[in-house]
Amino acid sequence: MDDYRGPQDRLRLPDGIDGADDDLEAGRDAVPRRDLSAPAEPGRWRRTRSPYSRARRKAAGRKPAGQAIESGADDQQRMVFMRKVFNFSAGPAVLPEEVLAQAAGEMLDWHGSGQSVMEMSHRGKEYMGIHERAENDLRELLSIPGNYKILFLQGGASMQFGMVPANLLRGRASADYIDTGEWSRKAIQEARRFGAVNVAASSEDRKYTYVPDRETWKLDPNAAYVHFCANETIGGVEFHRTPDVGDVPLVADVSSTFLSRPLEVSKYGLIYGGAQKNFGPAGLTLVIVRDDLLGQGQPRPPAMLDYKTHADADSMYNTPPTYSVYIAGLVFQWLKARGGVSGIERTNVEKAKLLYDCIDRGGFYRNPVAEPDRSRMNVPFTLPDARLDDPFLAGAKERGLLQLKGHRSVGGMRASIYNAMPIDGVRALVSYMEEFAARHG
Ligand SMILES: Cc1ncc(COP(=O)(O)O)c(C=O)c1O
Repeated sequence: MDDYRGPQDRLRLPDGIDGADDDLEAGRDAVPRRDLSAPAEPGRWRRTRSPYSRARRKAAGRKPAGQAIESGADDQQRMVFMRKVFNFSAGPAVLPEEVLAQAAGEMLDWHGSGQSVMEMSHRGKEYMGIHERAENDLRELLSIPGNYKILFLQGGASMQFGMVPANLLRGRASADYIDTGEWSRKAIQEARRFGAVNVAASSEDRKYTYVPDRETWKLDPNAAYVHFCANETIGGVEFHRTPDVGDVPLVADVSSTFLSRPLEVSKYGLIYGGAQKNFGPAGLTLVIVRDDLLGQGQPRPPAMLDYKTHADADSMYNTPPTYSVYIAGLVFQWLKARGGVSGIERTNVEKAKLLYDCIDRGGFYRNPVAEPDRSRMNVPFTLPDARLDDPFLAGAKERGLLQLKGHRSVGGMRASIYNAMPIDGVRALVSYMEEFAARHG
């Protein structure tokens, strides 16, 4: 059928293809027929069927289109999109093409329900099924034990900076925080509104370029909890091991590393992160919390800020971010089909190695982070002269390598290579970096 370039084109469906609705055929002659067996051109949608056909096909007694990713060959799966660009944004960030294609195919009519997921009541059976499936798939992906609640919330990880102390201080005098960069600092600032914070370890002395050795942490055995940021998205510093903090509940901000590798949930009291980096669109914040920590806030926080409210209502106390949960659910299915978190971890290791090897080769580029603590997800790097930054970014853009500018607080470049960044994207970046270094080195 047609290459889909936007809503205007949707109104120009050609005749003779199953699915072109009569009332949408105005101007159809303007669209040339295409060979459906031909590969899609990069950067364009090629759709094998129109979602408008569904009602008609259903009426004719045929199976409605649009099923889950792993449910076998289906109309929506045949929707192909080959992107022209690689998006290295730190978040909101790249999502798997297959997920976007499926969501596009299901946009107007989810599984023959006649509704878009965006239009569904969150109390209706269709959405409840989507929600439950997303939760079950996530539980399976990370083998989350039964005594942990999964909460689909809103407000971003920034809201968790306040919700964590409001719920988990539990009348205790203080909490321990590990300070490894901008995001830890923000969490610390917010916690100080609720109680005393003991900064048990900090890497500020070396400009946040490493994870302080666990042996040096000055933990308080009476602390309400120990908080750390599992991956500093701006500085590119990652904890590659779960720190042992004894019986004190361990709390982690996993915003930029969640689902990029296995995670031993049972070692944590609470885990939180925004979806917009590694598993969905902005608007969804995930919390995984051990159930003995629920309902312990002193005083009890307002209902919306109390984890127990959301746990008791299966994240349906108020309207959840339904579309974001739906997309996250598709990402979970995508991950399962790729060998789960262990499978994706292997690719992530390979991608990170390609990029760090390129940075370390030749001395043109520089990454300041101590090698064992380098992030697999966010790779900051500088060029030898900041005046080269703009030409580097302009050349990258010409090649379809987008959003490489580093965070304003650090400067230079940052390549975020989350789960959905294909290894070919990293190869394309490395090849451009080599070419640029050869020209300017
Ligand atoms: C590690 C980390 N924590 C917290 C945040 C804040 O997240 P949000 O914008 O979802 O509040 C970010 C955002 O980039 C982040 O990278």
